[in-house]
Amino acid sequence: MCGIFGIVTKDEEPLGQILIDAAKRLTYRGYDSVGAATISGGTIDLRKDTGKVEEVAEKYKFAEMVGQRGITQLRWATFGTPSQVNAQPHLDSDGDMVGAHNGNVVNNIELRQQFIAEGMTVRSENDGESCVHAVERYIDQGMDFISAIQHAYHDLEGDYAFVIGKVNDSKLYAIKKGSGLVVGIGKDFTCLSSDLPSILPLTRDIIRLEDGEIVTLWADKVELHSVNDGSLIERAPERITESMASVQKDGYPHFMLKEIHEQPQVAQELLHRMKGDQEEIDQILETIKNARNLFLVGCGTSYHACLAGAVYFSQLAGKAAIPVLAPQFEPQYLNAVGTGDVGIFVSQSGETKDVLNALQASQSKGMTCLSMANVIGSTLTQKTEAWLPLVCGYEISVPATKTFTNQVITFMYLAAQLGGNTDLDFDTLPDLMAETIESVDPAVKSLVPKINPWENSYILGYGLTYPMALEGALKLKEITYAHCEGMLSTEFKHGPLSAVTEGFPIIFAAGPEDVPLIISGINEVTCRGGEAIAVGQANPALAANANDMVTIPKSNPIFASLLSVLPLQLLSYHMAVARGYDPDFPRNLSKTLTVD
Ligand code: M6R
Repeated sequence: MCGIFGIVTKDEEPLGQILIDAAKRLTYRGYDSVGAATISGGTIDLRKDTGKVEEVAEKYKFAEMVGQRGITQLRWATFGTPSQVNAQPHLDSDGDMVGAHNGNVVNNIELRQQFIAEGMTVRSENDGESCVHAVERYIDQGMDFISAIQHAYHDLEGDYAFVIGKVNDSKLYAIKKGSGLVVGIGKDFTCLSSDLPSILPLTRDIIRLEDGEIVTLWADKVELHSVNDGSLIERAPERITESMASVQKDGYPHFMLKEIHEQPQVAQELLHRMKGDQEEIDQILETIKNARNLFLVGCGTSYHACLAGAVYFSQLAGKAAIPVLAPQFEPQYLNAVGTGDVGIFVSQSGETKDVLNALQASQSKGMTCLSMANVIGSTLTQKTEAWLPLVCGYEISVPATKTFTNQVITFMYLAAQLGGNTDLDFDTLPDLMAETIESVDPAVKSLVPKINPWENSYILGYGLTYPMALEGALKLKEITYAHCEGMLSTEFKHGPLSAVTEGFPIIFAAGPEDVPLIISGINEVTCRGGEAIAVGQANPALAANANDMVTIPKSNPIFASLLSVLPLQLLSYHMAVARGYDPDFPRNLSKTLTVD
């Protein structure tokens, strides 16, 4: 949540376009408001407002901004409503320092009262402003920036990263505590950001900051200091070679559609990688095999992958696995776990605070902790004993699609290997996915006018397709803003059936082995006027009982479960677009949730 970017150059130069481009590449982290500030000599030029980068940048002419240093911030609101005054960056009392943060300062309200009592000018309710005043407090006492940030660090509770600069200086200063911060080193400039996409177009030489480190940026060098004792930290830059191809839309109207279509290709790359890393996979399998309890931990879409993983481990390997929503891990299981138990922590971003909290709690009990993540170098990958990369490239769209299918395939592959299953021909899976995406699209589009007028719907699944029903419903809620509930098909009669009226839409994800059970469920709703839409393999009985049918290619039940989510992703996409919404950046959301 929230994204920051800062740049330091040798001389004053046009920085506006650089800041706009960086902000656009951080949009997935927050889009409630955007701001940019440049510092030249003794002046700060600060422009900010609510709205998307393109609109705000155009309205306030960001492109014309010049300076020797620049900062931009994308906000996902926590403290203070999305408004111009709460937008970041923020000035200090005298207007000669400017800074911005990502993360959450949990004692923000207490701090603001202190700052006001101390006579500072507090303009907003936002915790990013508290970071600026926390430094101002000590700069005003005559401290240098490193000492001031060291002191501010003790005042600011929570997880955050922030950047700050002052007039009549030539540097920017930043600190990382629990939120992502990466530094880039280019020719005659340095920069920093919450994440790599805004840095990599400028330079591929980067330094990843660790928690409790302060960085000072000059145009031609950076210096790292420990926040504890101010000591200098030596760290050589690393060169990033990963592709930036996924950061372009490549002719697709939205990243989400592009990422849906990328699924077969990234699945192939993932399978290729897992087959090539047999030694590492074997070690992970050994850990899983010997686990007393095996927990699969995640949030949102990643949790749905955990649910699927648990079904695969059981069906393919006879191994029980416990899927758990990350924040529920501590109350439900922590007291009962210890050495001998294993957790697989699953996350696209690798930065989700709920997941990191569960990880920390598990490690405190001596559990063996593995992870599955997409973002290389993310906190989750660094803090677990072994991690499985999802190999998806950047996923820009806030709704997760390709990272979900690769999470599911990773679990499927591990479970098949663990169970010694040789029947599943994984080489065929990417082509089956491609065939599904192409073949279902017309049928899915034809459903849009039927379902879109409804503000409520259900997606039901059973066994292998249950996690897919939940995932389809989450996608639909996330980007169409309509309510859609995912549920076990057999549970529908235990209450929700009462919601069914004439034409009420209910989608059934039918696994090939569950058709008779699904047909029962279909008839329970159609006889009450409900509109039953089946997603499954060609089956005359299924087609005859449902009002509509989306047919997926024939495959085994395990692969079919994965294929059944693809039409659901497409359905939510087409419904959102038909409603006039931007599926890439749904309101109120952020792709990386680094708050509790
Ligand atoms: O980065 P993570 O996978 O840990 O994120 C977890 C959820 O916030 C995420 O899956 C969210 O539910 C998606 N935006 C849904 O599409």
